[in-house]
Amino acid sequence: MLKLPKGFVLGGATAAYQCEGATQADGKGKVLWDDYLKEQGRFSPDPACDFYHRYPEDLVLCKQFGIKAIRVSIAWSRIFPEGHGRIEPRGVAFYHRLFDECAELGIEPYVTLHHFDSPDATYRTGDWLNPENIDYFVDFAAFCFKEYGSQVKKWITINEPVSVSTQQYITGTFPPQEHFQFLKALQCEHNFNLAHARVVNLFKKMGCEGEIGIVHALQTVYPASDDVKDRHAADLQDALEIRFYLDGTLEGKYSDTTLQLVNEILEKNGGGELVITDSDRDELDRAADQLDFVGVNYYFSKFVKDFEGKSEFTHNGTGTKGTSVSRLQGIGEVIRKEGIPTTDWDWPIYPQGIYDMLMRITKEYPKTRKIYVTENGLGHKDKFEGKDQLIDDQPRIDYIEQHLEKIAEAIQDGANVQGYFVWSLQDMFSWTNGYNKRYGLFYVDFETQERYPKKSAYWFKELSHAIDS
Ligand code: NOJ
Repeated sequence: MLKLPKGFVLGGATAAYQCEGATQADGKGKVLWDDYLKEQGRFSPDPACDFYHRYPEDLVLCKQFGIKAIRVSIAWSRIFPEGHGRIEPRGVAFYHRLFDECAELGIEPYVTLHHFDSPDATYRTGDWLNPENIDYFVDFAAFCFKEYGSQVKKWITINEPVSVSTQQYITGTFPPQEHFQFLKALQCEHNFNLAHARVVNLFKKMGCEGEIGIVHALQTVYPASDDVKDRHAADLQDALEIRFYLDGTLEGKYSDTTLQLVNEILEKNGGGELVITDSDRDELDRAADQLDFVGVNYYFSKFVKDFEGKSEFTHNGTGTKGTSVSRLQGIGEVIRKEGIPTTDWDWPIYPQGIYDMLMRITKEYPKTRKIYVTENGLGHKDKFEGKDQLIDDQPRIDYIEQHLEKIAEAIQDGANVQGYFVWSLQDMFSWTNGYNKRYGLFYVDFETQERYPKKSAYWFKELSHAIDS
């Protein structure tokens, strides 16, 4: 069995919009996805896995399967239906009930304040590109700290800001579906760093109990070859997706090299200058010194080669192998690397990538106090073969085990990793893939909403017992 330290946290991850369903219930305000998904007509976020009503059942499953912590997010628009101003008491009450139930069962909630679900009202006024919306987000955070501070001791400001900035403005896979708008994407990145920093500084100023961190999507980037051009391409891709965020949130300052790379991306893609004020710099600097942890979401690595042609991007949102394309002008092209297996959604399975990322954070960002792996898991087309048949998701077990082995190795080599959250606790809705990309330890029959523990859930339970004993 794997060697993980005693006290190592084993958790399951979820997000409000992906699991709650009930998107119109109890006065919830619209979010940017509601109209977009309706217009697209591919799949509905309702009822997802109906966590809004079935959370007690899911928490009991957690308890039965040795899962001691759960990542959940608070839907901003359940509390502030218009993003600011009027408060919806039914939304406020829901999260009190959820956190009470967690306490009752001894499951610690790690609570995210923004998981891809900006209120429609703030989205329509420019979303994260509009500084006024950052003020509203900070107000929402302050409200949550006061309201839930006695029930929640682990807070996460923002989930995967890079997924939002790049998918909204570069790949066009999130609303408003803009393509190759690098200036907007990078300004959005900085604004996220700033919003995060302001919330951390506020949390500390308010003297809140507990810890606060941020969750980044960190898919390690490697050059496709040793060629100097490929190495530079990997540096550019890394700057765009990783380095600008790690510098901004873990160091509190963008290094000269990072800014050079970012400026090169802009110069090659229409130019423009980022707005970064002295007061922004001061916020970033103070927040990095006070940050309690960073969450690492790791699923795959990218192998990148030099690319000077026109940008082109195709998202594999169906699970049809080999359909994805990612070529960014003057930055790089993501290639398939011989010998490395991929999922049906073209994600290369490369456990070494998580080791390298954990060690990079440890070595290059020494202010980092601790790390949680806040998401890792395998999207798979699990087969349900009847109520009495165990769902055999051995590929998921293998995936999790291989990654945990690399995490254990990183811990031995000095990375302060304190926990692991599998994505996801139960099967749920996926933003751009709908329902056939299943990640859960618990299978959800979306018709009946019945839950069935998969083979991986039993494996996870054994691991949890091994850590405890
Ligand atoms: C990261 C995101 O946080 C989550 O919302 C998403 O569904 C998973 N990755 C799987 O792609």
